[in-house]
Amino acid sequence: MTTTEIKQPNFPPKEFKDFKRDLIHKRKQHGSLIPLLQSAQDSYGYIPEKVIHYISELVEIPAADIYGVITFYAQFRLKPLGKNVIRICEGTACHVNGAKSILRTLQDDLGVAVGETTDDGVFTLLSVACLGCCSLSPVIMINSDTHGNLTPDKTRKIIKKYKQETAKEVQHEGN
Ligand code: FES
Repeated sequence: MTTTEIKQPNFPPKEFKDFKRDLIHKRKQHGSLIPLLQSAQDSYGYIPEKVIHYISELVEIPAADIYGVITFYAQFRLKPLGKNVIRICEGTACHVNGAKSILRTLQDDLGVAVGETTDDGVFTLLSVACLGCCSLSPVIMINSDTHGNLTPDKTRKIIKKYKQETAKEVQHEGN
């Protein structure tokens, strides 16, 4: 079957043009929903509702079933990531050196659980198995910066700094 023979959805939004090409390519390769969802997440950082309906038409699977698949796999997100992504290491070295208390501190300070984003969209909290710098445990990464040898106090100060910097950036963008 050629690309032009594949059934097109009734409402391909214009902004999905590149994404659509990728979808059709992947559909030809695998005929599977998972690569399509991965492609959507790579394009948008999460899987928007519009895209779910678009994929639903394209692959002829009900949107409700696609939601089921998305919520089953931890790798997929239905909401965009926050401006700052915090990855807390829960690997063995970090666990032994107090990762639990760092996690509690982050959850209390931000008011979110692992996998969630703050209501203001400033922070997303994720957990990972090892960040590869065990000698600095307990460790978190915020975006691409590593913060090690953490204590709850040090963690609160780091988060405060990111909050202040983000508030400044927002203020600057508003001017
Ligand atoms: S166990 Fe935490 S960085 Fe390796």
